[in-house]
Amino acid sequence: MKQIIFIFMSLLCFSCSSKAQNQIADTNVQSDKKILVVYFSCTGTTEKAADAIAKTVGGKLYRITPATAYTSADLDWNNKSSRSSIEMTTENSRPELGGEALELKDYDVVFLGYPIWWNLCPRPVNTFLEKYDFSGKTVIPFATSGGSSITNSVKQLKKLYPKITWGEGQLLNGSVKQAGEWAKGVI
Ligand SMILES: Cc1cc2nc3c(=O)[nH]c(=O)nc-3n(C[C@H](O)[C@H](O)[C@H](O)COP(=O)(O)O)c2cc1C
Repeated sequence: MKQIIFIFMSLLCFSCSSKAQNQIADTNVQSDKKILVVYFSCTGTTEKAADAIAKTVGGKLYRITPATAYTSADLDWNNKSSRSSIEMTTENSRPELGGEALELKDYDVVFLGYPIWWNLCPRPVNTFLEKYDFSGKTVIPFATSGGSSITNSVKQLKKLYPKITWGEGQLLNGSVKQAGEWAKGVI
């Protein structure tokens, strides 16, 4: 009888400990992902969302910095001759970037944030995407806007960069809390 109880107790212990190990492994899968939160922002709205995402998921923040900063005159979409208007009406415009060097190979997941410009992503984002090798990574777009959806910009990104593994894009025009909650849910 004692032997039977011993065998039963041993089996019970083994089952509990393997369950506990699985739980630890599951937790590690999430925390082991190295996350980069890249963003382009001229007036700070997308930056706030990016900051909230980085804080919530424990990612590193990286700003896409144009070699020449945009002035408010550059951002005037009502002026056909403004810098942003010219860039956005010129499909192959790729403004030069400055900013710090980036070791992209250190990351598994890249959140990519931008303001919607002319229903697309701003051209410096294209310069960024063409500068680095995204193989083996998942790129998850997010955007802020004056009301437009993210759909058209994501469609164009997928068309231009079919080799990139794209996660589902999200418009983040709500609170920074919403941005963080969304990011937690997708990694
Ligand atoms: C040049 C330019 C073009 C824009 N085009 C659009 C647009 O097509 N649709 C829209 O909803 N908002 C548009 N906006 C508004 C921005 O997407 C919005 O203000 C965004 O939150 C700004 O982000 P930021 O503060 O990170 O730069 C445009 C803004 C600029 C400067």
